[in-house]
Amino acid sequence: MQIVIFDHEQQVADTAAQWIETLVNNKKSPILGLATGSTPIKLYQQLIRRYQEKKLTFKSTTSFNLDEYLGIDATNSQSYRHFMNENLFNHIDIDNTHTYLPTCAQGQNPREQGLAYEEKIKQLGGIDLQILGIGANGHIGFNEPTSSLASRTRIKTLSQQTLADNSRLFNNNEFQPTLAMTMGIATILDARYVLLMATGENKAKAVKDMITGPLSAICPASALQMHENAIILLDKTAASQLPDQEYYQWANAQNIKINQAFGLYHNY
Ligand code: GLP
Repeated sequence: MQIVIFDHEQQVADTAAQWIETLVNNKKSPILGLATGSTPIKLYQQLIRRYQEKKLTFKSTTSFNLDEYLGIDATNSQSYRHFMNENLFNHIDIDNTHTYLPTCAQGQNPREQGLAYEEKIKQLGGIDLQILGIGANGHIGFNEPTSSLASRTRIKTLSQQTLADNSRLFNNNEFQPTLAMTMGIATILDARYVLLMATGENKAKAVKDMITGPLSAICPASALQMHENAIILLDKTAASQLPDQEYYQWANAQNIKINQAFGLYHNY
């Protein structure tokens, strides 16, 4: 794991945007894995700005989102499709037919839908860079605690904590889905690079468990310990419970020097 701690959350977003810009500008048909939630919003704003400044184009980019609610359709303003359209897709030049979310409409078979999503990712060559947030309970995507570390795209029942955390986004009397389709943990681990962003004090415990805890299904994000190229971008409040912070800062300074001396190594 490469752990980078910043003073401000804007630096987390800017650094993540730089990773995406490098990928999109260096690969012919880049495949991005995208996330929803409040954490990546600043990243998406930064990508829109860079697109407007003509620093990058998404014309040949394909995207796969981590998850989507069950029981509401794409036109619902609470759907993750709507979130992605509003916060990113409508403002850049990505081809909308090349943006995928793991959906399962009424009447469709979730097992078949999950398999088809996995197949589509594989068929297009796999995800180059997967963006992740983290739930306060350590979830990634909607892989709640006790999710199999070998899981693939499927239905998950949301935990009480996730429902409570996300209830702030729903009005009183508005239907809040309790089920979702989500990429599995194994799906996420298949990405060539994973970049997890966490900001704010309420993520500090999950971040500590992810990095220092045992590899355990009880903290799904701890599965990233098994990934060859996991980059963890934190602001100092999200990093506040981490031991050895000075070491991470020192190692990161060395990484910058190594990259300057030998060039950035990206095995996209
Ligand atoms: C959501 C999403 C996750 C996200 C997490 C944290 O419910 N399914 O992909 O990373 O919970 O969200 P936030 O960034 O709003 O804290």
